[in-house]
Amino acid sequence: MATPDAPLLRALRGDRPERQPVWFMRQAGRSLPEYRELRVGTRMLDACLTPDLAAEITLQPIRRHSVDAAIFFSDIVVPLRLAGVAVEIEPGRGPVFADPVRTAADVERVTSIDPADVAGAAEPIRDAVRLVTAELGDGVPLIGFAGAPFTLAAYLVEGGPSKEHLRARGMMYADPTSWHRLAGWLAEVSRAFLQAQIDAGAQAVQLFDSWAGSLSRATFLEHVAPHSRAALEGVEVPRIHFGVGTGPFLADMRLGGIADAVGVDWRMPLDEAAAIVGPDTTLQGNIDPALLGAPWPVLAAHIDDILAHGRAARAHVLNLGHGVPPDTDPAVLTRIVAHAHGEAE
Ligand code: CP3
Repeated sequence: MATPDAPLLRALRGDRPERQPVWFMRQAGRSLPEYRELRVGTRMLDACLTPDLAAEITLQPIRRHSVDAAIFFSDIVVPLRLAGVAVEIEPGRGPVFADPVRTAADVERVTSIDPADVAGAAEPIRDAVRLVTAELGDGVPLIGFAGAPFTLAAYLVEGGPSKEHLRARGMMYADPTSWHRLAGWLAEVSRAFLQAQIDAGAQAVQLFDSWAGSLSRATFLEHVAPHSRAALEGVEVPRIHFGVGTGPFLADMRLGGIADAVGVDWRMPLDEAAAIVGPDTTLQGNIDPALLGAPWPVLAAHIDDILAHGRAARAHVLNLGHGVPPDTDPAVLTRIVAHAHGEAE
């Protein structure tokens, strides 16, 4: 287990450690040739449920980039698989559900599964996390994660990836009772997944509400925020809440102060974000993934700009505004880490 003075943990508590903490969403994955090699012949969700494989993939970016945090290799739909829901991840597409949850009867069917089943079936998750934290030692903390209820519903209700999540957003208004029942159940499922990771040694967590940007502020507040809050309620390690395109309700992403840090995408400068979230929240972000292929001087200037604007926040964790694109040159990520740490590149 990392010591409490690990730069990431200090920044999440609101300190400004000498070493600028940096990690990347989707650092464990397809941008790494050693990942692609290890994954040959194994389906994504099978890899997630094979402890030594999941642990090894989690550790690959630590060895390569010297990032300040590991993010557990898994997926937001893993707890649904553990609950017995039929889901696969199709390469190049994303999560696909055999039986989309669209009607009141569908919601009744899926929510009759006891969320405690997730905790019971999560032994491969706990095993993988234990392997990771043993290997990481006292220097680098492991971040556990889960999907926020809305982003999970955006897949579960549609049955697969969608652009505007019309069916999930539609259910909120066509049948609010079913919506709240489904979102409440998803919050419990994600909460159980987080707890399994924390019990085995994860020292911080991130809730991914990647698609929250498709919501209006009013809809976020009424139909989504209470459930996201429930997913993080009672979690005893620092909590990061992330979404893309959440500028119109960034202050509300604090979930009433329960989030220690809020993720910001590339659309809003961090000084503006800091003024919105106030003095009690750490910011995480917000390198534009589109700049990862730019000439180094352009990218370096972008990062320096972000670090400068990040000084307006109480503390700052450098990251991308969204995940690492699969075609990213991993050497660029290594160089960003060295640059942020003030080392010769
Ligand atoms: O490195 C890390 O960040 C840790 C692992 C991680 C994965 N998924 C691995 C993964 C994390 C934190 C996630 C979360 C996740 N999964 C989110 C939220 C984060 C985000 O990007 O907004 C979402 C929306 C999903 C659902 C999902 N799973 C999608 C959209 C995809 C991509 C489909 C594709 O192939 O383009 C996946 C698959 C997935 N999850 C991969 C990885 C490494 C790719 C699987 C492969 O190698 O084929």
